[in-house]
Amino acid sequence: MCGIMGYVGSGETVSIILDGLEKLEYRGYDSVGLATVERGRIKTQKTVGRLAALRKMLAGNGKRGGAGIGHTRWATHGRPSERNAHPHLDCNQRLAVVHNGIIENYQELREQLQKKGHIFISETDTEVVAHLIEDYYKGDLLAAVRRILGQLKGSYALAVLSADEPGKIVVARKSSPLVIGLGTGENYIASDITALLDKTRDLFILDDNELAEVTPAAVRLTKADGTEVTKEVFRVEWDAVTAEKNGYEDFMRKEIHEQPQALQETLAGRVDWEKGTVVFPELKIGRDDLSAIRRIHLVACGTAYHAGVVGKYIFERLLRLPVEVDLASEYRYRQAIIGPDVLTIVISQSGETADTLAALRLSQAKGSRVLGITNVIGSSVAREADEVILTQAGPEIAVASTKAYTTQLLSLYLLGIYFAQELGTLEEALRQQLLTEVKLLPHLLEKTLATETKIKEFAEDFKAKENIFFIGRGLDYPSSMEGALKLKEISYINAQAYAAGELKHGTLALIEEGVPVFALATQPDLYEKMLSNIKEVKAREATVVALVSAGDYKTEKSVDYALYIPKTHPFFTPILAVVPLQLFAYHVAKVRGCDVDKPRNLAKSVTVE
Ligand code: AGP
Repeated sequence: MCGIMGYVGSGETVSIILDGLEKLEYRGYDSVGLATVERGRIKTQKTVGRLAALRKMLAGNGKRGGAGIGHTRWATHGRPSERNAHPHLDCNQRLAVVHNGIIENYQELREQLQKKGHIFISETDTEVVAHLIEDYYKGDLLAAVRRILGQLKGSYALAVLSADEPGKIVVARKSSPLVIGLGTGENYIASDITALLDKTRDLFILDDNELAEVTPAAVRLTKADGTEVTKEVFRVEWDAVTAEKNGYEDFMRKEIHEQPQALQETLAGRVDWEKGTVVFPELKIGRDDLSAIRRIHLVACGTAYHAGVVGKYIFERLLRLPVEVDLASEYRYRQAIIGPDVLTIVISQSGETADTLAALRLSQAKGSRVLGITNVIGSSVAREADEVILTQAGPEIAVASTKAYTTQLLSLYLLGIYFAQELGTLEEALRQQLLTEVKLLPHLLEKTLATETKIKEFAEDFKAKENIFFIGRGLDYPSSMEGALKLKEISYINAQAYAAGELKHGTLALIEEGVPVFALATQPDLYEKMLSNIKEVKAREATVVALVSAGDYKTEKSVDYALYIPKTHPFFTPILAVVPLQLFAYHVAKVRGCDVDKPRNLAKSVTVE
C-alpha cells in the first residue's frame, strides 16, 4: 500500500513531508515523490528508490509555508519508474495528485480523457484523477474534486494541490485510509497515523465518501454530496511502534484483519461484472497458447506451496488438464518432465525465494512459459517470469504469511476461471455460481474474523499441548497443511496435517486421550466421510475441534469445539477456512509468550537454498 503525507502551514513544508514519509517507509515502496506550491506554480520532485535519495535531491530546500503533498509508491499499475511515481499532474501542471488505492475503471477514463485531448505521461491509474479534476476545475478545488469522485470506481485516498489555491490541500477517501492531523496554525494529512504522531495526536479520521479542504487555519469537512460534516477530534494515545501496527499489538494480527481489504484490492479490476467474465488485461497468454498446453506445473515453497495445492484441485476441475504441484526445493532436482507443452506457475509472496527462483529458471530453460504470482512488483519473480500476476495484499511484515496466502488463493481462482473461459471448459451454471460467490468473499472473510472471540477463549486449552493434528479431505487437506504450518512456525507446537483418509494407515496410532485434532469438514461431497474420521479419532478419546460451514449443526454434537465459516461455494472455502486456523495459531502462540511476528530461526524471505 502507498504512503501519503501532506502539510499546510508556515513551517518547513518539504522537511515536514519528508519526515512524515520516513515514518511510512515500513509499508514498503519502490518510488517516492513530493509536490509543493511555490510562487504560483506546482513544483515536483520524484525518484525511483529510497526516500534518502529524494531527501538528498531536496537538500537545502528550506521551503517555508504554503502547501505540499508527498507519496511513497507501492506499484500496482505501471512498473516502478520516475514517470510513474506520484504526484501526478494535469496537462497544464496546475494540479498535483497523490493516491493510495486502485481506480478500477482507469483505462476507460483514460481513453475518454485522451479523446478530449488530454496528454498522459505515466502508465498509472492515478494520473486520470489529475486530468479529470482539470476538466472540472473552475477555481474551486473542493468542488472540482467532489464532482469527479462519482466517476471513480475502486478505492482511493486522494490528496490534491492547486497552484491557483496555494495554502490548501483537498483530500477525499473511499476504502483507503486517510487522516487529518490538527495543529495550531498548521494542519497535516496522511495515509496513516504513524506519519503524524511526532507532530500532533489530535486527528480527524476521514470516513468513506468524505472530503476535506485543509488550510492552516481550518479543516472543512463535507460528504461527497456536499453536505457539511462535523467530527469529534480523535485523540491518539498509541506510541509510535503501536501506530505502525495501526493499533494492533502485532503485525500478524493486523495482517490477518487486513485480509478483507486485501481480497477487495486483489479482486479490483479482475471481473467485468456486466459481461460476467474474469479479465487479466496484463496477461498475453490466450486461447491458442493454452490450447497447446498439456500440463500445468504449480511450484512454490511453504505457505505459497499450500496455495498451489489448492490451485491443483481448482485447475484440474475447471480446465480438465493434468496439474502437478511441487515444492520448489524438490522440483529443481527431481528431473521433472518440462517442455513447451508445460505451463509453469510459480507462486511467491516475496518474489525472492531462492528455490522458487531456481524452479522458475529451470522451467524457462526447458522451454516452458512461466507465469509468476507474487505480491512484490519489481521482485525477481516479477521481473524474470514471462508473465506476472500481482496480488494486492500490500506489504506483509510478519514472517508468518496470512493475507498473502488468501490473495494468492483468490488470484489462482480467478486465473482458473479465466483459463477455463479461454478454453471453453467452464460450464455456464458453474461460471455464474462462482462469479456470484467470488464477489462476496471479502465480506464473508470479514464475517469469519468473528471466530476470533471463541478461539481466544479456548486457545488457553491448547497452550501446553505438544502435538496437534490437522485433518481434512479434498480442499480441506491443503487448508489443514496451512493450519499446521501456521501453528508450528509461531507457537513451536509440533503440528502435522494429514489427509483424513490416511489416518488408518499409521497416524491413528498416535491418537490417544486428549490429543488435539483439528478436523476440517467444509466439503459437502466428502462430509459423511469426514464425520466417520471424526468418530474414528473421538473413539480414541481425542480432543476434536471441528471447522465446518454455517448451517451444519450436526457435527458439533460429536466434537469438543466447533468453529463455523460462512457458507460459500465449496471451491472457495479454503479462503475462509484458513482464517480460524491463522487466528488459532496466533492466539495459542500469544498465550505461549512467543514472538508471533518474528518466530525463532525463520526469515520473511528465504533468499538462500
Ligand atoms: C509462511 O508462513 C512462511 N513464512 C514460509 O513458509 C513462506 O511461505 C515461504 O518461505 C515462501 O515464501 P514466498 O512466498 O515469499 O516465496
